[in-house]
Parts: sequence; C-alpha cells; structure tokens
Amino acid sequence: MPPDTNELLLIGVGLMGRPYIEAARRLGLSVRAVEAASRADEIRGLVDDLELCEGEYGGLDELWAEAAYAAVRRRRPAGVLAFTESHVLAAALVQERFGLPGPSLEAAVISRNKALQRGRFPAHGIGQPDHRLTDVLAHAGAWAAERFPVVVKPLSSAGSAGVELVPDGPAFRAAAVRRAAERPLLVESCVDGPEYSWEALVQDGRVWFANLTAKDTTGPPDFVEVTHRVAARLSPQRTAQVDTLGRAVVGAIGMRTGVVHLEFRLTASGPAVMEVAVRTPGDHLLELCSLAYGVDWFEMAVRLAVGLPLPHPPRHPVRYTAAHFLIPEPGTVVAVEGLEETRAQPAVVRAEVGVAPGDVIGGTSSSAQRAGYVLLAADSPEEREEALAQVRKALSVVMSPRTGPRVEGAPG
Ligand SMILES: Nc1ncnc2c1ncn2[C@@H]1O[C@H](COP(=O)(O)OP(=O)(O)O)[C@@H](O)[C@H]1O
Ligand SMILES: [Mg+2]
Repeated sequence: MPPDTNELLLIGVGLMGRPYIEAARRLGLSVRAVEAASRADEIRGLVDDLELCEGEYGGLDELWAEAAYAAVRRRRPAGVLAFTESHVLAAALVQERFGLPGPSLEAAVISRNKALQRGRFPAHGIGQPDHRLTDVLAHAGAWAAERFPVVVKPLSSAGSAGVELVPDGPAFRAAAVRRAAERPLLVESCVDGPEYSWEALVQDGRVWFANLTAKDTTGPPDFVEVTHRVAARLSPQRTAQVDTLGRAVVGAIGMRTGVVHLEFRLTASGPAVMEVAVRTPGDHLLELCSLAYGVDWFEMAVRLAVGLPLPHPPRHPVRYTAAHFLIPEPGTVVAVEGLEETRAQPAVVRAEVGVAPGDVIGGTSSSAQRAGYVLLAADSPEEREEALAQVRKALSVVMSPRTGPRVEGAPG
C-alpha cells in the first residue's frame, strides 16, 4: 500500500493517548492506533483505524514491537508516536526501519534500561549515584555494606515499583532472600537532595523547549511522588547547571526527536540523575506543562512525530501549575471528604478520587496505588502554594486502620 502522508500511527491509546488524538485532529491528521486487544472497545470510536495487539500496558515490549511493525508494513504513516514505557522500543524500531522521526533506536534502548543509562553517563560527565549491577543481590552485599543506605531497583520498571531503600546489613540480607529470584538488579548509593524532573521537546538532537518540575515524594522507603510543581524556579547558577545537564543527557543517549523526561536530585555537589526516559512523563505532567506555558505539548509532540514545523518556543510561564496526589494510610476507606469543596476552588483544574467507602488499601509502594489526584493552575508560585495548602486541608480519604491481612489489588 502507498504511504499515507496524512496519518499519525499511535502505539497505544489507553487514557494517556487521548490528548494526542485531539492534537492530531486539530492538525488535520487522521489517526490509526495499535491498541491492546483488551482495550479495543474503548478506543474504536476515537480513531480512524485500529490495529490490535496481544500486548498489555506495562507488559511485553516484544508484542508491541510485532504489532507496530505489522501496522507500518501494512501502510506507512507520516509518523509514529509512542508515549508509554513499554511502547517506546516498538516505535523506535519502526521509526528506524522506515526512516520516520523519533528519539532514535539508541535512545529508546537506553531509555528502557537503567543499567545502560548508568553505563553511559560517566563518559559524558553526568552526575549519578555510585552503582553496582548484579545478577544475584546477595553478591552485592559487601559493596553495599560500605555505602548504606542503598537503593535496590529493577532495570526496566516505572512508577517506583520495586524501588526499595535498604538501610543496613540485616535489611539487605532480608532483601537478598526476598528478591533472590529477581535478576538483574541495580544497587545504588542513596543520594540526598531535592528531586526534580526536566521535561523537554527535542528536535534533531536540539532542545526546543524544556520545563523544570519540583517533586515531593513520600521519601524512604518507597519514594512515591506526592506533589509536582511545574515551571519550578531555581537560582541562575542552578538553572544553568540543569540546562547543561539536560543537554548532556540528550547527547549521551543519542536523542533525536521527541519528548525527554529526565529525573534527578540536586545534591550539594550538583545534579545526580535518577533516570531518563524518551517518552511522555506520567502524572499529568504534559497537561500541566501545556497550562503553564500556553502551548499544547501534546500537539508539539505530534508535530515532531510527523515532521511538521514547530512555532517559536514560549518565553516564560503564563501559569504556575501543580499535581497533588492522595496517599491514604493502609486500611479500609470510610469516607472521601472535601471533593466538591476542592473542585470549587478557582485554582483547581480537575480533582478525581478513585476509591470509595469499603475499598481496602494495602499501602502505597508504587504510584499506581495512589487514591486520587488534583491538578491546579495559579497566577503565581505563591498563589499555587496557597491553593495546594487548601487542597491538602480540604480533601482527605478517611480510613479505618487495617486489621486483617493485606488485600492485594485495591483500586488506586
Ligand atoms: N540512588 C537513589 N538515591 C536516592 N533516591 C533514589 C535513588 N534511586 C531512586 N530513588 C528514589 O526512588 C524514586 C524512583 O526511582 P526511579 O529510579 O526513578 O524508578 P522508577 O522507574 O520506578 O521511577 C526516585 O524518583 C527517587 O525518589
Ligand atoms: Mg522514576
């Protein structure tokens, strides 16, 4: 079949892909999607054409790669866009093969593997934790003993799943038993300092525009993200450090075109990278970036994917935005309080709670277990702080303490 120079092929739609469909429509593109067969019914009405995939979200990259390749062989689109971790490789393989814009196969492979990131950064002068890659966690015990506390993590997960702070020798030995079947694992020194992410739109290896997000997490042991503040500000010296870091990482991973999401901590001796991904950040960050800069980042990503020109980058933020997440204590939900009051606040863009009375929540060791979120947009950083304080005060999930055994799979 001849190429369709007017078509965007989305690898996965789910919920996060919908703004890309809207942006593509505004640009006059037709949209075809490769979608998990299990979710096809939700998506069919939204796109012009649908290709089914046996893969699941967060599941096997290989199944998405197979489906993406078959789809592009059937009809070559103007561009291919993947926005979630397990689809990045599928998109990059077809982008490379068919000469379409994308992050590059190199950047996608490195994005999927934290150990490859660790191995790549030192040669580019990029700060990061000391680390040890191991097939048997117990074998890293002597290395860890000189560095406690350490962080143990898988190479290719997301949302803090499997990321664990290990404070001392007994805890390390327990982790080595508990995680004996898991391999490979990274063990890292625990670096200290406030956490940030850097979201950039990159065209042919050049940063078109970048945003800084400041993060609060639950801290040790699980580090689940609680609050993001978009368009965060630092001192001129720190801002220059972050710009240099972002450009160095883009160069180090061979990033060509698309979205980059970089996470780092600002330590006393400079930035230390947690991880980088060549995909859309989670936690509604692109929506918050769009509100903050008055530019639709989803549309910019679609433009990059199909090779359409970009406008002039924004000069400064027009709003100061934030996302706040609800993380209840483990137990049974008794009530959700203050949702309507929160929604009525002028700075609140959206507030959603995904739990109801009677639901059992078994603790929050990964971001998927959070119980709800609030997106805010204010005219100044100070007003944003006030709005966040009001939200924290008004909105709560009231719990009764857990008595029985933990129930897996509570909605979050
Ligand atoms: N070496 C480390 N030192 C300090 N904190 C860390 C370290 N590694 C991970 N963390 C914390 O855990 C969080 C999740 O780790 P990350 O490597 O980003 O995994 P994920 O892919 O699950 O997001 C980070 O955002 C950070 O808060
Ligand atoms: Mg992370």
